[in-house]
Amino acid sequence: MAGELSPIDKAKFVAAKRAADFVEDGMRVGLGTGSTAAWLVRCLGEMVRDDGLKIRGVPTSTRTAELARDVGIEVISLDEARWLDLTIDGADEFDGDLNLIKGGGGALLQEKVVATASDQMIVIADIGKEVENLGAFPLPVELIPFGWQTTQALIEEMLISMDVLGRNATLRMNGDTPFITDEGNYILDLHLHRIGNPRQMALVMNQMPGVVENGLFIDICDKVIIGYGDGRVELRDINEGTVEHDRLDFVESDNLFTDLAE
Ligand code: A5P
Repeated sequence: MAGELSPIDKAKFVAAKRAADFVEDGMRVGLGTGSTAAWLVRCLGEMVRDDGLKIRGVPTSTRTAELARDVGIEVISLDEARWLDLTIDGADEFDGDLNLIKGGGGALLQEKVVATASDQMIVIADIGKEVENLGAFPLPVELIPFGWQTTQALIEEMLISMDVLGRNATLRMNGDTPFITDEGNYILDLHLHRIGNPRQMALVMNQMPGVVENGLFIDICDKVIIGYGDGRVELRDINEGTVEHDRLDFVESDNLFTDLAE
C-alpha cells in the first residue's frame, strides 16, 4: 500500500513523525488541520495506543476532531485546556522568518486562536511550502456573510495602497454554494502573488469591518520541520537560530500508511 504513496506524502509523513517526538506525557497539544497535520494525528494516535502516551488534544477543525477521536486521542476544547504546551500544524507557505500563510483548508481562524494560545508552535511541511516571499499561495481571509460583497470591495480598494502584485479576490466555493467555515463564515482568497510587507498586511486586514481573521501567521511559528520524500528531515528553530538534519526510517508496511491510503 505504501508503495502507492507519492514522495510528497512520504515527506509530509516524516515531518509529522519527527514533530511527534516533541510531544510528551501530560501535554495539552493543539492539533492542526490539513493533510500534513492528519499524519501527525495518526502518529500521535499510534503513540497513545502502543506506547501509552497520555495527552489531551485541542483540534483546530471538526475534521481534525473526528480524526483525533478515531485514533484514540482524548479531545478537549480550548476553553477546557485554557493554554497549550504545543501546537503542531501544517502551512500553505512559510518564509525565512517562519511567517506563514495558512487557511488553504479553511480552518485558519481556529488554527490561529489555538496556535496563539500555545507555548510553542511547530509547523510541519514538505519543502515545496518554502518561499522567499509569501503570497504566491492565495491569502485566505475569513469574513462574515453579512455584506460580504461590500467587504470584498473595501478589501480590493485597500489593496491598491499595499505592496502586492495582484488584487483579485475570489469567494471560496463548495460546489455551487459558498464554502462555510466551522465558525459559519465565508472565505475570500486574495490572489496577491507577492506580499511585500506581510506584517502590515495582517494588521491592516484585521482592521476592516466584516473581516474576522486573515491567514497570515506573523511571529507565531517557532520551529519548522521540513520533510523530504527520501526520509530526510530538516528542523529549523527561529528562536535558537539553529538548523538540524536528520533521517527517519519508515517501514512501508506501517499500518499508518495503510489506514491513510484507504
Ligand atoms: C488548513 O486550514 C490549513 O491552514 C492547512 O494547515 C494548510 O492548508 C496545509 O495543508 P496541507 O498539509 O494539506 O498542505
